[in-house]
Amino acid sequence: MFDLTGKRALVTGAGSGIGREIARKLAEAGAYVFVTDVDPAKADETAALIGGVDRCLSMSLDVTSEPDCDRVRDAVLATVPALDILVNNAGIGCVGKMMQTTGSDMDRLYQVNVRGIFNVTRRFLPGMVERRSGSIINLSSIGGLVAVPDRFAYCMSKFAVTGMTKSLAIDYAESQVRVNCICPGRVETPFVSSRLAEYEDPEAARRQMTSTQPLGRMGRPEEIGWAAVYLASDEAAFVTGAEFNIDGGWNAG
Ligand SMILES: NC(=O)c1ccc[n+]([C@@H]2O[C@H](COP(=O)([O-])OP(=O)(O)OC[C@H]3O[C@@H](n4cnc5c(N)ncnc54)[C@H](O)[C@@H]3O)[C@@H](O)[C@H]2O)c1
Repeated sequence: MFDLTGKRALVTGAGSGIGREIARKLAEAGAYVFVTDVDPAKADETAALIGGVDRCLSMSLDVTSEPDCDRVRDAVLATVPALDILVNNAGIGCVGKMMQTTGSDMDRLYQVNVRGIFNVTRRFLPGMVERRSGSIINLSSIGGLVAVPDRFAYCMSKFAVTGMTKSLAIDYAESQVRVNCICPGRVETPFVSSRLAEYEDPEAARRQMTSTQPLGRMGRPEEIGWAAVYLASDEAAFVTGAEFNIDGGWNAG
């Protein structure tokens, strides 16, 4: 078990699915976690699952809002000198090829999935640089490594996440700030359930979605959580700029 005792973490989009499990696993490993989400009730639910004000604090945070990001930075840095771990998890999806994708879909996916990471990271990176220590973990996707059919805007945004990860990793390596991304395949979360519900035959869609993953099933959110614990830990001190694929073998084929 990797030990995160004494480390301070912030997770965005921690009110559901993968972000919730990342927050829970970081806390289980000993980190103090700022549990944030655009939906404060969902952030509260995650905080209640973690339990104890000595283990976590729930806050509302819309990653697309600069004033919100300022407010959260000020509140966090009034409590702790700097973050040790930042998990940029908040993200949204969009189904469709280019001709089914509108300009506003493109803008929305860019604002949440790409600009959101920029907004949040810029507010916590200086403290990490000053302390010459920090682990930033971005949630990219299999769609940030290879084209996934019918996910034009989503792939656009996740390739950007993979690119930002590598660029940041190189630029801040001399400051000993590590930046990595996790690239999940399909993981059983509300994000995927809501996509499945859009199909005429959700069961057939589920079989088709699972067929891309040689291990023959969807991932579980906690399987992403454990990867985040490793990347956040001192045992990963030599890991930066990496794409950590957790995709049931999808990208191996
Ligand atoms: N589930 C999958 O199969 C899968 C696969 C690859 C990558 N991912 C990525 O993992 C991340 C989490 O996905 P999930 O499946 O847990 O999704 P989810 O929909 O279950 O949870 C996403 C959370 O983000 C929050 N959120 C949305 N917009 C936000 C905003 N503007 N500011 C702050 N929070 C916001 C939502 O309220 C929600 O709680 C996303 O970045 C997603 O792209 C998911």
